[in-house]
Amino acid sequence: MPSRDLRDTFSIRRSDFPDGFLFAVATSAYQIEGHAHGGAGPTHWDSFAKQPGKVDRGEDGALACDHYHRWAEDLDLIAQAGLDAYRFSTSWARIMPDGKTLNPEGLDFYDRLVDGMLERGIKPMATLYHWELPQALADKGGWTSREIPQRFAEFSRVVGARLGDRLYSTAPVNEPWCVAWLSHYEGYHAPGLANLGAAARAMHHVALAHGLSIEALRSEDVPNLGAACNMEYALPATDRDADVAAAEIYDGIYNRWFVGAMTKGEYPEDVLDGLSDLMPDRWQDDMKVISQPIDWMGINYYTCKRIIGTGKAWPAYGTVDGPLPKTDMGWEVCPEGFDWLLRRTAREYTGDLPLFITENGMANGDKPGRDDLERIDYLDRHLEVARDLVADGVPLRGYTIWSLLDNYEWTLGYDKRFGLIHVDFADFARTPKASYYALARALAE
Ligand code: FCB
Repeated sequence: MPSRDLRDTFSIRRSDFPDGFLFAVATSAYQIEGHAHGGAGPTHWDSFAKQPGKVDRGEDGALACDHYHRWAEDLDLIAQAGLDAYRFSTSWARIMPDGKTLNPEGLDFYDRLVDGMLERGIKPMATLYHWELPQALADKGGWTSREIPQRFAEFSRVVGARLGDRLYSTAPVNEPWCVAWLSHYEGYHAPGLANLGAAARAMHHVALAHGLSIEALRSEDVPNLGAACNMEYALPATDRDADVAAAEIYDGIYNRWFVGAMTKGEYPEDVLDGLSDLMPDRWQDDMKVISQPIDWMGINYYTCKRIIGTGKAWPAYGTVDGPLPKTDMGWEVCPEGFDWLLRRTAREYTGDLPLFITENGMANGDKPGRDDLERIDYLDRHLEVARDLVADGVPLRGYTIWSLLDNYEWTLGYDKRFGLIHVDFADFARTPKASYYALARALAE
């Protein structure tokens, strides 16, 4: 990749995109709100963080960015940047602390938040589940249990009935791959299982949760329904057959499983070869509800991975370090993968369906007083790809930056900084970074 001089200005500006192309910023409930406030119930992330060795420094989302009290200031910052939309999420455990009983204060919070967006001319893009599973449902087996998608549909109906008349768009589940595979096979996120059988069940139940939720939202007349699937560009580390085959399986599990289910009602054959004996009974009967029509597809993209074949039991993949410059997460900066995945998804799965980038961004070792030029460069390179995709006729309709604020980065706690705005976790002070001001200029021009 050619290296570029880091600049404090975007090369891209709003006028490089068609009228109506949406520029947005994203956060999620547990990562910013402060779950100790407002009657939210315990979640599986609270209990995961208490298990030794699971989360850096044992940090949890109890206080996070105190957005629960500072939401108006945060919405002002979004509006002042000239952004068109805000992708936020609703916490299941805040709205239903035990997974089924309503906490009116919780739903009222999101009602005010949505009105606050509309008052400021910001389009509300809701995601219903961004990972804070109520502990009471985790105790029933979480995503390995078929009861959870059914409960999720009920939750979706309640949120849809209350907020749906004002939402611009809604997606049920953030990053199904993370909810299912990363959390039940890789063991890296709550509940921290490393069990192929649990993973197979979760891979199906999360897809089912998407379908049942879309059905419930549509029954409440909630408009503009979609999904937010994460993708990672899988590159074989060498041209050895074993590495090429492992990269194909990695791609199937990560990038084709959920999109294939949602758009075609099919799981990829190569992945099913490894999982079919472990799938829940009669999973085939659910494919119709999983693949009912949606109005748009969202893709979260951050990086590529170098894949090796391990020669061990299926799925027999491993990852090795790559040569590209890396973010503070150790993730390679790889806009080529963004280009490749979007074109492949449109060509083979989504066709004319509008696409949105629902997350893209980087963690950087930001400190107050030091400009985050790396972030400007990262976002700019990906926006250049987005511009070219649109010019080539890929139906990309919007681009969302992760994240508005530095926040709780799951197993890595609070020291991975993804925000356009710096947060001091001692007093919650917000300080816009250079990238925030550069973005505001690019959007105003
Ligand atoms: C995504 C998640 C988001 C955040 C970013 C860095 O996978 O959706 O919550 O953690 O990664």
